Amino acid sequence: MTRDYQTFLKQQAYIDGQWCLADNAQVLPVYNPFDQSLVGHVPNMGGSETTRAIDAAAAALVSWSKLTALVRADYLLKWHDLILTNKAALATLMTLEQGKPLAEAVGEIEFGASFIRWFAEEGRRTGGDIIPTEKDNLRYLVIKQPIGVVAAITPWNFPTAMLTRKCAPALAAGCTMVIKPSELTPFSALALAALAEQAGIPKGVLNIVMGDAKAIGDVLCGDARVRKLTFTGSTNIGKLLYRQCAGTVKKLSLELGGNAPVLVFDDADLDKAVAQVMAAKFRNSGQTCVCANRIFVQTGIYDRFVAAMTVAVQNLSLGNGLSVPPVLIGPLINEAAITKIQALVDQAVSKGATVVYGGHVDPLGRQFYTPTLIVNADVSMDIAQDEIFGPVAVIYRFETEAQAITWANSVPVGLAAYCFTANIGRTWRVSEQLAFGIVSVNTGLFSNATTPFGGVKESGLGREGSKYGIEDYLDIKYICLDIN
Ligand code: SIN
Repeated sequence: MTRDYQTFLKQQAYIDGQWCLADNAQVLPVYNPFDQSLVGHVPNMGGSETTRAIDAAAAALVSWSKLTALVRADYLLKWHDLILTNKAALATLMTLEQGKPLAEAVGEIEFGASFIRWFAEEGRRTGGDIIPTEKDNLRYLVIKQPIGVVAAITPWNFPTAMLTRKCAPALAAGCTMVIKPSELTPFSALALAALAEQAGIPKGVLNIVMGDAKAIGDVLCGDARVRKLTFTGSTNIGKLLYRQCAGTVKKLSLELGGNAPVLVFDDADLDKAVAQVMAAKFRNSGQTCVCANRIFVQTGIYDRFVAAMTVAVQNLSLGNGLSVPPVLIGPLINEAAITKIQALVDQAVSKGATVVYGGHVDPLGRQFYTPTLIVNADVSMDIAQDEIFGPVAVIYRFETEAQAITWANSVPVGLAAYCFTANIGRTWRVSEQLAFGIVSVNTGLFSNATTPFGGVKESGLGREGSKYGIEDYLDIKYICLDIN
């Protein structure tokens, strides 16, 4: 295991270009989900430090927003290159605090860096408009300007990529930021700040605070200088933040919960469907907002699909994300996750579902859940209504296309959906009718920097990545010019 990660184990917050402790000197421990050993401590900050971070971001905004997009791109590309140069150390640090297998952590560092490169380039293409006039003396112009100070609250499941997905468009657009990473995985964020410092990104442009989530959130939402909040996390917290931001009418990007349906039709390529559903279900040990939550399988392919999934689930290796040879599934983030998953499994079984494999905490440790396959489930069960967020695949049998679409759409959220079919007409019909922001056809992996990620209904607001992702960090200004 590379020890180089210790260079990046920053145990202080980053405000106005200074590494600092909490005002009251309190700290929070961060534990390794694999064995609950201590990884390190971070400052337990609150409102006063957050206000100072906003002061710094507001001061830095004056000069950062005036730089040309080309100059900002140069800073971002330098940051991008440093992240990739230090990929191995950053990935090790991520596995230590988050638990995911090292290969997935390396993949996340690359994925995270790709947003920086994409938006460094995209920042140079945020041109405005000239609108044809309706009066001889008037000219109508539209320019786009950075929205101002942006607050970001980022999750523990992708501690690097969910941060860069927000920072890269914000910084490229000319905004400055105050970021609160999850207290469960703060070190990946602090390592990114250390590399931003090395890349020469000026002080105050990117600030990182952590600690008391409520105190920090209250200040971020209440301070009128913060003009936008971007959040990835649960729908419940998203709704709370939405309400809290009403007082200062901030722009919001919310990437909230999902409950992804998978529709496997009789005409699907079985081997491909199984391999891709496994990827969509078990990536990050099932802890992504786009993980396959409800697997609807048409009756003609059902038995063969279940048989192949059973073998595939049994073959998943479980263990320390840093172990050699590598494992596919790591520990879950905490014991609360295990308790929630067990309650969902138990309720499904009590209502008639059958556990084909797994269904219990794994002997490997108290934060491991044995990869699980459940059949005979029905859509009234809690396991169909809630996000499982763990390594439990649940299969439902369906007869007709219309029935599958109705079931898929019968939840209040709408982030990602998957469809497996060889029929092009069905691909169109189903994609158009699924009430989701993303439809992934014949593949279980679709996330990248160049395409729009985001949901409809209670899955949130806005899109991240792609040419659309930067618009959320820009204000439109209409200039009416009398030329006489
Ligand atoms: C998430 O779970 O929030 C992001 C997953 C992804 O980008 O694929």
